[in-house]
Amino acid sequence: MNGLVVDSVHFAYGGARALEGVSFQVAPGEVVALLGSNGAGKTTTAKVTAGALAPAVGSVTFEGQAVSGLPAHRVMRRGIVLVPEGRQVFAQMTIQENLLMGAYKERRRARVKELLERSYETFPRLRERRSQIAGSLSGGEQQMLAIARGLMSEPRLLIMDEPSLGIMPKLVQEIFGLIRRIAGTGVSVLLIEQNARASLEVASRAYVLEKGRIILEGEGRALLEDEFVQNAYLGAEN
Ligand SMILES: Nc1ncnc2c1ncn2[C@@H]1O[C@H](COP(=O)(O)OP(=O)(O)OP(=O)(O)O)[C@@H](O)[C@H]1O
Ligand SMILES: [Mg+2]
Repeated sequence: MNGLVVDSVHFAYGGARALEGVSFQVAPGEVVALLGSNGAGKTTTAKVTAGALAPAVGSVTFEGQAVSGLPAHRVMRRGIVLVPEGRQVFAQMTIQENLLMGAYKERRRARVKELLERSYETFPRLRERRSQIAGSLSGGEQQMLAIARGLMSEPRLLIMDEPSLGIMPKLVQEIFGLIRRIAGTGVSVLLIEQNARASLEVASRAYVLEKGRIILEGEGRALLEDEFVQNAYLGAEN
């Protein structure tokens, strides 16, 4: 397959097992949701896929080439970008400097300018505040900045670890609309979420992770109707 193939990945933090045979795929231009409760192994899966952690067993293949075992910066060069949990913008740098960090590997100045312009068109709020220190932005604005910085690298696989966490519903809708548009340009998106309803509406397929194992997979729409998923993940708070 041409997109992402994660095959039977095992990972442990010291003696503590976090992933026990995780397998899933994301096709080019597809949005795939990865759901699961706290501690299920979602962030660990994101980090293994992005090369921040090396799997003990199993493999990660992207566009037909193995990426597991490569250091994170080389995985990034292959087009895999992780927007990490909790944003992690460079708080002491300005918004524009943060965005430029996302395009550090692009040597063509004109292209960097185009990418910057595209970010500001997508996120007008960032343009208004481009000279402001990133640490002074609100949580939601920092999340937008983290996403915009990820897009500056022109990923072919974008992994987003809980982009809606702590964000007001209206902005969540904006972010999910953006995810749809990104996928529409042929980029694969792995969307890690606890907001099951919104992510199942945007994803074509989804996987449910529990205690380091994929326990369920299916089409987004079908999982929305699934009784187990409704009981476990689509409670009143969603
Ligand atoms: N650096 C670490 N050292 C030791 N154990 C860890 C470490 N990071 C995560 N774990 C453990 O691995 C398991 C999976 O954690 P992970 O962060 O992948 O879960 P998650 O699904 O992202 O949870 P959340 O929804 O809370 O973000 C948990 O039991 C967690 O305690
Ligand atoms: Mg997590």
